[in-house]
Amino acid sequence: MDEARLQRLTRRAVLGGLLGLPGIVRGAAAADGVPPSRAFLRAPPPVTAAGQVLNVMEFEALAREALPPAHFGYLATGVDDDRTVARNHDAFSHYEIRARRFVDVSHVDTAVELYGARLTSPVYLSAVGGMRAFHAEGELAMARAAASRATQVMLSTASSTAVEPVSAARGAPLWQQLYATDDWAVTEALVRRAERAGCTAIVFTVDNIPGRNNETLARAARVDSRNCTACHVGNTHDMWRKAPMFAGLDVSRVTGHTPASLTPAYLDRLRALVTTKLIVKGIVTGEDAVVAIEHGADGVVVSNHGGRDEESLRATIDCLPEVAAAVAGRVPVLFDGGIRRGTDVFKALALGATAVGIGRPQIWGLAAFGQSGVEAVIDILDRELRAIMRQAGTPALARITPGHVLNSAWR
Ligand code: FNR
Repeated sequence: MDEARLQRLTRRAVLGGLLGLPGIVRGAAAADGVPPSRAFLRAPPPVTAAGQVLNVMEFEALAREALPPAHFGYLATGVDDDRTVARNHDAFSHYEIRARRFVDVSHVDTAVELYGARLTSPVYLSAVGGMRAFHAEGELAMARAAASRATQVMLSTASSTAVEPVSAARGAPLWQQLYATDDWAVTEALVRRAERAGCTAIVFTVDNIPGRNNETLARAARVDSRNCTACHVGNTHDMWRKAPMFAGLDVSRVTGHTPASLTPAYLDRLRALVTTKLIVKGIVTGEDAVVAIEHGADGVVVSNHGGRDEESLRATIDCLPEVAAAVAGRVPVLFDGGIRRGTDVFKALALGATAVGIGRPQIWGLAAFGQSGVEAVIDILDRELRAIMRQAGTPALARITPGHVLNSAWR
């Protein structure tokens, strides 16, 4: 066995926890995960360009090869046993699509109106911090890909490039995700800066409570022997000590991503501050969606942070119907978690989402190929969404209804 292959296999064995994650078993190395219909296939030739990759999950294996263990661990990790990460994706498989015939599908339109803007696709790039950990061009490559595909970007507060250059690279208004921190002066400064940079929405993340147990990340970091102090100055991972959005701010009183006391009164205070749209990200129940709306939210994101915050074992696609019912059309319901196929996008739209975000998939593409990898991920989802819209007899997004899906558990 050659040295490089031995190292790869060792790394996989050591990263035990990662192997249980969805998609990882789909690589050429894992015969167990190969469906019988493909078992006869020999290993394909190596992929050398993003356009050769067949589906979004295949990018995950390429990203794992491209990244140092700790950075892949940061990307892949969930909480405790990573079962909520797995469920986010797996739960899509208990929703079946009721395809309808006798519809003219010669023109399929994936455009959606959202907050006065017309998006050509319901798929947006959700917030992911520190993208330069995945590719040297980080957020700029992501934003250029988004520009070339006219895709909406939600930029993380923890981005490794600040909002102004990312906004310039995108060439259209961003949404700024907000980790408010527990110091109001810092919150105010972050919001004002994003608004000055032309962001049309502040997306307030409410699920990032300190003290989460990202065991897979911890395990991966242990086997990463690099000296990381050049980027992680003082060996700290505190976002407010290194992320460019905090440059020039007094962060001496900040101790966490999220206010220690996050009550409805905090939402009122933030609502009074934000002059753009205010979207609340991290909602998984109907009750909290109602609180968010009653305290001024212009939209909610059904999200469990990609299973990275609490091991709830509730897939977001299973949370979506109760949130959509509680919101009852008053504001847009956005969605993320486990989207890997165009059919997943379709199912989320059918269950009440107006638009859906992708987190890890954009980074798999970025890590493997930079800008062209992100573009390829967007293209694949777009192609698959159009295909299922045609098959299901839904030529426009507004034609996709709850009647187009069936949960096998409902029977
Ligand atoms: C995230 N996510 C996230 N969310 C957020 O509000 N602010 C952030 O800075 C980050 N950072 C971040 C880093 C990494 C590495 C990942 C994987 C995710 C969560 C993200 O926006 C989204 O909610 C989930 O990633 C969606 O799930 P999938 O698509 O990854 O399954």
